[in-house]
Amino acid sequence: MVNFCSDNASGAAPEILRALEAANHGWAMPYGEDDWTRRLQARVQEIFETEAAVLPVATGTAANVLCLSVMTPPYGAIYCHRDSHINVDECGAPEFYTGGAKLIALPGDHGKMTPEVLEAAIVDAGVVHAVQPAAVSLTNASEAGTVYTPAETRAISELAKAHGLGLHLDGARFANAIAFLGCSPAEATWKAGVDALSLGATKNGVFAGELVVLFDPGRAEELGYRRKRGGHLFSKMRFLSAQLEAYLADDLWLRHARHANAMAAALAEGLAALPGAELSHPVEANEIFVVLPEPVIQGLFDRGFQFYRWGPESNCEARLVTAFNTDPAHVEAFLAAARELS
Ligand SMILES: Cc1ncc(COP(=O)(O)O)c(C=O)c1O
Repeated sequence: MVNFCSDNASGAAPEILRALEAANHGWAMPYGEDDWTRRLQARVQEIFETEAAVLPVATGTAANVLCLSVMTPPYGAIYCHRDSHINVDECGAPEFYTGGAKLIALPGDHGKMTPEVLEAAIVDAGVVHAVQPAAVSLTNASEAGTVYTPAETRAISELAKAHGLGLHLDGARFANAIAFLGCSPAEATWKAGVDALSLGATKNGVFAGELVVLFDPGRAEELGYRRKRGGHLFSKMRFLSAQLEAYLADDLWLRHARHANAMAAALAEGLAALPGAELSHPVEANEIFVVLPEPVIQGLFDRGFQFYRWGPESNCEARLVTAFNTDPAHVEAFLAAARELS
């Protein structure tokens, strides 16, 4: 079955399952007081070249909203892209976990926010009738499959800092962004002014596990209480940490992301060459949004290829997502079928 619906449909890598099996021997202290979690903390600090606080959680939504909960008061404003996961795909969890902060959704081409749009949207602090500017949240790689460069992130963070706002990065596909940029994880985050990162792993070969990385460790104690209160302090934390340790060992996370990005690039190149096809966004990570003639879209569905039609039923835009284990033969089969139908 050829499935390009989502990187969440991809399963877990053998290295991750082996790490889980290996962690299942003997006893270990609960709630993160185990060796796996300690080693994971050290590994993340090594990768990011700084003393970050590291807290494993089970979902990307939890990572995002826990980060935001220590960055904004209940009367705060969080500026984000209108298509961001926190705005459209988290069922109000950011509002819930912050105790009512308001998301201010901003437009921006190709899933990205610009400093100009952000600047115009920030309301004056101190007006008692308005929510108070508190945080900015970016997604890298973005929901449109595009990537913020360190310079673009820095331009946003400088503006945010000038207004006293914190900067959160939703990195559900951070590995794909780094694989595209070829820069260091530090350059794309704290060196560019990011205060808190949701470091994704599940979409990129982990069974279940994501990380909160706080570049301001001073917020870690509060986040620890909030994680417990939010039901994300795992008693058998070693199983989360063992997966994440394996994920970050030997650059597995980057090797996975490079493969996913390469598969997306091949798919995009082949599709863009079809008559009547048009890519909606630059393909920089592992997501492709492409407008195709309706007979091609319907024909691909009829032949059993799985992917999402993006937007309303009448839309001729398809979303295709590749992953760490996308089979090159599946890319070829999809392109061959699309060519036949064109
Ligand atoms: C941009 C982005 N952020 C965060 C998430 C995390 O979502 P979940 O809570 O399903 O792990 C996703 C998953 O689809 C995502 O695409």
